[in-house]
Amino acid sequence: MDHSGNAGPADRPRIDTSVAHSARVHDYWLGGEVNFPADRAAGDAVMAAYPGIVESVRANRAFLARVVRYLADEAGITQFLDIGTGIPAANNTHQVAQAIIPSARVVYADHDPIVLLHARALLDGDRRGVTDYIEADLREPGSILAAAARTLDFTKPVAVMLIAVMHLIVDEDDPFGIVGQLTAAMAPGSYLALSQVASDIEREQVAAARQQYNQRARETQRHRARAEVARFFDGLDLIEPGVVPVQQWRPASAAEAAARSTMWCGVGVRP
Ligand SMILES: C[S@@+](CC[C@H](N)C(=O)[O-])C[C@H]1O[C@@H](n2cnc3c(N)ncnc32)[C@H](O)[C@@H]1O
Repeated sequence: MDHSGNAGPADRPRIDTSVAHSARVHDYWLGGEVNFPADRAAGDAVMAAYPGIVESVRANRAFLARVVRYLADEAGITQFLDIGTGIPAANNTHQVAQAIIPSARVVYADHDPIVLLHARALLDGDRRGVTDYIEADLREPGSILAAAARTLDFTKPVAVMLIAVMHLIVDEDDPFGIVGQLTAAMAPGSYLALSQVASDIEREQVAAARQQYNQRARETQRHRARAEVARFFDGLDLIEPGVVPVQQWRPASAAEAAARSTMWCGVGVRP
């Protein structure tokens, strides 16, 4: 596959539409069109257990846009590594970053072949900047860092973004080791932005939703409590307001702040 996102016949992605996948279920909740009956069935089952899921997912997307705006505008970050990208939606990282810094360099990474298929929309950035897409697994952070280094200069500050993906990494896959490996590669002044589903917000409904999802989907969700999410920022300085529900991270309007979500988030800087 070449880096314009074109898959040749020999390496055309193998897409299994019979089992729900997080990228497509997420797309369904966001009102997209890249989803299949199995994804919609899983999405509906989660929604029945936890009716607030769509509002929560939207609040997370709003956080994503706000955090990129903060990083580009206030923190002066020009390089972004967005892992667990998802199917393109509104306000993708490169669009928000390059609207502020046209020369911003953005590398996306996801392991789902369906995201690869839609990657062209992610590569359509400002000509003054660079966008790249890597098909890679977060559970192999060394490979992601090596591939991203073709586009990003890790001797200078970067923002590593793990937005709504760490709840898809189970404990057996060493989530804290993965994040530690990524943050160890970041130069001083680099940022980690992370959000993931909480185990300690609307506890019972969200646990029931997780059970519904895990019965139907390829990935297994592992929700985490606030203290566990804070641990992802070990060795970094947390930016105010710390680890909070996504809608409470520097909301841009009263409407954003009033949203409800079951996602913790935080942003940390490497001293
Ligand atoms: C819930 S979506 C989040 C999309 C986007 N970051 C957002 O917040 O809107 C999770 C994404 O992470 C990807 N993902 C899950 N596990 C992954 C892994 N081990 N390696 C790479 N990507 C992964 C899925 O394919 C999916 O696109």
